[in-house]
Amino acid sequence: MALYSEKVMDHFRNPRNVGKLDDADGIGEVGNARCGDIMKIYIKVADGVISDVKFNTYGCGSAIASSSMATEMIKGKPISEALELTNKAVAEALDGLPAHKLHCSVLAEEAIRAAIKDYYDKNGIAYDPSLFPEPHEE
Ligand code: FES
Repeated sequence: MALYSEKVMDHFRNPRNVGKLDDADGIGEVGNARCGDIMKIYIKVADGVISDVKFNTYGCGSAIASSSMATEMIKGKPISEALELTNKAVAEALDGLPAHKLHCSVLAEEAIRAAIKDYYDKNGIAYDPSLFPEPHEE
């Protein structure tokens, strides 16, 4: 069996939502100290819904595929749903990632959460801090 699924290869070769939003409402940047990869996600929010999302990832193919898939999964969704997106769901949507690449999908989950937290902070919206645990190292 190939190491990477067709979906991983597709999202790696043709990533969706690449770029930056100059007028982003929230920006989340996370990195993994061990591999050095960095992911930045920009969100635009309208009426509690993620109306647009873009990402820039300086990292491995799995991180790029995870960012691409994760942005597709939260685009047009209410913030409450985006907050529930887990790295497991991202990896599953990609038809799986090799075990040593699962942390790449964790970056996507963390970057989305960081962007939402930034949006809340910038807009003075109260939230439960337990929703945003400190990003963890693998
Ligand atoms: Fe670290 Fe993929 S190897 S994010």
